Amino acid sequence: MPDTNSPQAPAHIRMGSSIGQPATRREGVQKATGAARFAADNHPPGMVHAVMAVSSISRGRVVSLDVAAAKAHPGVIEVITSENAPKLAQDPDAKDNPFMFRLDVLQNDRVRYANQPIAVVVADTLEAATEGAALLRPKYETEATRMGLDSADSFVPPAVGAGGPAGESPGDVEAGMAAASVRMEATYDTPAQYHNAMEPHAIVAAWDGDTLSIDTPSQGMAMAQGRIAGLFGIPPGNIHIRSPFLGGGFGSKGLVKGPQMLGIMAARLVGRPVKLVLRREQMYGPVGHRAATRQTLRMGTDGNGALTALSHHAKTATSTFDDFIEPAANASHALYASPAIATSHEAVRIDTGTPLFMRAPGEAPGSAALESAIDEMALACGMDPLAFRLKNYAETEPMSGKPFSSKALRQCYQQGAERFGWAGRPQAARQMRDDAGTLVGWGMGTAVFPALMFQGHARAVLRRDGTGLVETGAHDMGQGAWTAFAQIAADALGLDAERTEFHSGTSDLPDAGIAGGSAHTATVGAAIDGAGADVIAKLAELAMADQRSPLFGAGNAGVIARGGRLHRRDDEGRSESYADILARAGVAEIEGSGTGAADPAAQSAYAMHAHGAVFAEVKVDPDFGQVRVTRLVGAFAAGTIVNPRLVRSQYYGGMIWGVSFALHEHAVMDRRTGRPMNPNLADYHVPVNADVPSIEAILVEERDVHVNALGIKGVGEIGITGTAGAIANAVWHATGVRVRRFPITLDRLLDA
Ligand code: MOS
Repeated sequence: MPDTNSPQAPAHIRMGSSIGQPATRREGVQKATGAARFAADNHPPGMVHAVMAVSSISRGRVVSLDVAAAKAHPGVIEVITSENAPKLAQDPDAKDNPFMFRLDVLQNDRVRYANQPIAVVVADTLEAATEGAALLRPKYETEATRMGLDSADSFVPPAVGAGGPAGESPGDVEAGMAAASVRMEATYDTPAQYHNAMEPHAIVAAWDGDTLSIDTPSQGMAMAQGRIAGLFGIPPGNIHIRSPFLGGGFGSKGLVKGPQMLGIMAARLVGRPVKLVLRREQMYGPVGHRAATRQTLRMGTDGNGALTALSHHAKTATSTFDDFIEPAANASHALYASPAIATSHEAVRIDTGTPLFMRAPGEAPGSAALESAIDEMALACGMDPLAFRLKNYAETEPMSGKPFSSKALRQCYQQGAERFGWAGRPQAARQMRDDAGTLVGWGMGTAVFPALMFQGHARAVLRRDGTGLVETGAHDMGQGAWTAFAQIAADALGLDAERTEFHSGTSDLPDAGIAGGSAHTATVGAAIDGAGADVIAKLAELAMADQRSPLFGAGNAGVIARGGRLHRRDDEGRSESYADILARAGVAEIEGSGTGAADPAAQSAYAMHAHGAVFAEVKVDPDFGQVRVTRLVGAFAAGTIVNPRLVRSQYYGGMIWGVSFALHEHAVMDRRTGRPMNPNLADYHVPVNADVPSIEAILVEERDVHVNALGIKGVGEIGITGTAGAIANAVWHATGVRVRRFPITLDRLLDA
């Protein structure tokens, strides 16, 4: 019963039917026709071009550059090196939180990794700048390169990922291993990978006095503002970032990087707008990557196949000057029940650009190893891999003991297995062939990804003409965020989608936080929902206080906002349109605001994750070892599905990353020079259509009342987890060969 003495405003209900609709992308036609303007498509008047010269060594010092030759080239306006680069207001190596990336921006002559910027040439044309950069002919003082996980002494990092502990060990793993009747131990290697967004990092920067306007693809505009403001000594509010479209980010555009700073620096120095776009190979150094890992899994089970111990240790690499540590072992925190679990990390410092968050950081390589190991353990126990996973199903989060806010993983297993046809799978390897004699294998993996929220804000407006507006400085990396947010906005305002305007993608709008950690929809969705609730509460106040309104006196019962009208909750027949309420009040528009953030009480009470199960079929040529993924079925439960079309597309994308992880992606580093040997999309393989013949994603129903008011978990990264392991397991099932080194290329399959 409502407390009539409570000073609290009544909670109004808002109803709409936009959430859950399979709307097509709002910007789809713009993108398909080329009308969508990406950062590098901008050409402000007077703009000139900047091209970076990058180091061909990975450790040492730049001794000389032929600046005179570059300057003599027709069209070259300026050459910026560490000799003449303006000093910045802040040390670009200073860092006070894990969300800062140390930057190489010509403040000294040190070289710390290959492809590090060592000069910037500004010219009238891109060609002149490119030619000018080629004329610099750098000379170096070279020091021996350290490459690979065994090239330096390892250390236990103080933190991994975004600041989590490097090790956790509830229970006694050694006792659990000693008590086990079956044991396994295996080591898995995963390579360095590069984000390879289709759109390279790019910036068009223009100064007007102390005001800076920027076009650049960003997953975190407010953080970029803060970082640029610090380095250039101007207030963040003077920096206007436009980032309406991204051609992918995958983590690499989460933190603003050195090359963008160099574009800004060049624009200031020459006093004209400057465009700087990275060439593909220049993205293999200064803008982040996923570090290689070597992971050792140990497990023991009792006579019934129940885990008695699970140990997951990951060794990885970071740069010599920064601290991002791929949290791979943490993949074992949330999935399988065991009385003893130990996860731990160690790292080496090598002469590489700093690694960074990339497509399920930690979870992707971690789950590839864990899911492979689970398959090996199931086999050792003589159990079907699905039965083994169900036997060790976690009813509470293994690492914390907390209950799950929701967990429909059993349904994922069941629906995925049924759709795939898992029943009847022979347990032994090398039992199935197709008509052409090609080996056929089936494997599976479990997917899990935390349901995170960061912090974001939104603003909502209702106008006298009965339309609404929602604004938030959010980021659409290509995942369909605009469309999903516009759907949430319509329901937040109790309006039809056609009457709801939605704006986003610039830093002048309310700070929407970072698009990362698969948390953007949940975070910004909550902010939009809150802004809608705020503005509807104000509208209801106006109406309920007005004797001429049919809503007068609705009082503590509150109202229902639906289809652009407010209805009394205690008598739905009595209603009034938003337009009429505002018109009679003589108000042109009313405004509300909202913040999305995790609820600390719910966070401490519950473990929050999205889950899934991925089933893979591969065919392997018995003579040549060529592997083809012929079928992928994923079943995922991630709370409220805002837009099933876009969510399915996210799952497809994630599963295709999984194919890529299992079979294709691999940065090959030259151990003598520290240079990437395949820094292009011809030699660094990612899947094309022919690599992904049949893919299905099942949206498993799940309702979560704890994660946030809308019940949204993330869907961006979960698809990659589970999939790589499922494919590795299918390759084993087809061939009887266990390749513990990713990617599973045919030479490794034949050599194993
Ligand atoms: Mo993601 S790797 O947090 O963009």
